[in-house]
Amino acid sequence: MKTVAVVGTQWGDEGKGKIVDLLAADADIVVRFQGGNNAAHTLVVGGEKFILRLVPAGALHEGKVCVIGNGTVVDPIALIEELDKLHGHGCLTSDGTFKLAAGAHMVMPYHRAIDRAREARLGGRAIGTTGFGIGPAYEDKMARCGLRFADLADFKSFSEKLARNLAEKNLYLKAVLKAKPVSVEGLTEQMKTVRRRLTPYLCDTAAYLDEAIAKGRRVLFEGAHGTMLDIDHGTYPFVTSSSCLASAVFAGAGLAPGTLEAVLGISKAYTTRVGGGPFPTEIKGRLGDRLRTEGGEFGSATGRPRRIGWFDAVLTRQAARLNGVWGLAVTKLDILTGIDPLKICVAYEIKGRRCDRVPPGDLVTHKIKPIYEELPGWREDTSQARALGDLPANARRYLRRLSELSGVEIAMVGVGAAREATIVLNNPFLN
Ligand code: GDP
Ligand code: IMO
Ligand code: MG
Repeated sequence: MKTVAVVGTQWGDEGKGKIVDLLAADADIVVRFQGGNNAAHTLVVGGEKFILRLVPAGALHEGKVCVIGNGTVVDPIALIEELDKLHGHGCLTSDGTFKLAAGAHMVMPYHRAIDRAREARLGGRAIGTTGFGIGPAYEDKMARCGLRFADLADFKSFSEKLARNLAEKNLYLKAVLKAKPVSVEGLTEQMKTVRRRLTPYLCDTAAYLDEAIAKGRRVLFEGAHGTMLDIDHGTYPFVTSSSCLASAVFAGAGLAPGTLEAVLGISKAYTTRVGGGPFPTEIKGRLGDRLRTEGGEFGSATGRPRRIGWFDAVLTRQAARLNGVWGLAVTKLDILTGIDPLKICVAYEIKGRRCDRVPPGDLVTHKIKPIYEELPGWREDTSQARALGDLPANARRYLRRLSELSGVEIAMVGVGAAREATIVLNNPFLN
């Protein structure tokens, strides 16, 4: 298969970055199509850790083309910093290896200020956003007052638009949110640097990708966040402001429906979420603390401790259906070593009734009791396993059950953070 998307099936941080980095070896182009630097995708290559927020996780492979599509919202200063860091490592230094959609919208300092001030005002009812201005930037896109990279070409008109936006945002920041306004002079100067630094990368990425696919190039689409954070199908309002499903590839990269040949769903062997909102299988107390410590479950974007829970098959079934998942990559199996018994949520009990399916939005309103199935754990270290046969029998049994309950075949299993710590059963590009 030549066009493959990787999507998160839970609440983000499933390990998408690691899997995209691994698959990028067999791809020509890697594309981000939604979200912004609220994403944080960790790669461990050659013993070194890299966290990518905006640049696709193909960047560490020489000669691969990395594309940021039109459906994303991009903080230009954060992008410049990320590119500088990558260039310092000798990545993306060849001409044409990085492309930015001229139609992508910019995240401005006033978006960040609004995001943070709103969250502070919400107090205990806060969403727990990353505070990077993602929601307010998508709001402006939809309100048709957003600033796109293409707008930088006519800097006079860009500056006028920016000043108009800022006048309105500053009124809102001061009068409603009681927050500090953003200076127009400082921002206009900063945008001159943005124009100089980023204009060389601007491109009609939709046309570029269409041509590349027609020529038979292999394209990997890197989803950000996760299905349960999707604006339509997630646990609204505790979601992010973009569509995180595989279907967002078409709008967010500018391709026709039908372009995608396979969708790889990424699931942790347990569940985590950062921020507020419902989490039926959440584990509190010592076991949760242990998994958090052993799994290093602290947000790579904000450093916040991630909430921990058992694997929830109700949610992965929904994610499999919504994304048309072809195969599942189960990550962080190694972290479950020594936990016995293991629980898997197979269904929910709502008002005394068993439910095999619940619209994720309804998780917010219902009082849910997870129905668990228990499986025996294992004690052996799994981190050196490179084939299913290297895993303890109980680990294989656990994986089999996750697959049966999710209704999807397992294509990969992660047994460590490093690129090579993966059991590859079915690589979609080699299929
Ligand atoms: P993403 O946002 O989906 O790319 O995931 P993050 O990078 O935010 O979080 C996943 C974390 O788990 C990172 O620290 C990865 O290095 C790490 N990781 C990914 N897969 C595995 C795995 O199979 N085992 C272990 N131990 N760590 C993993
Ligand atoms: P990756 O791509 C985990 C969560 C935030 C918050 C909610 C809204 O690394 O998996 P936002 O700043 O997007 O408006 O915050 O969404 N969130 C993520 N949680 N991983 C992510 O991305 C996330 N992106 C957003 O924690 O609850
Ligand atoms: Mg992450």
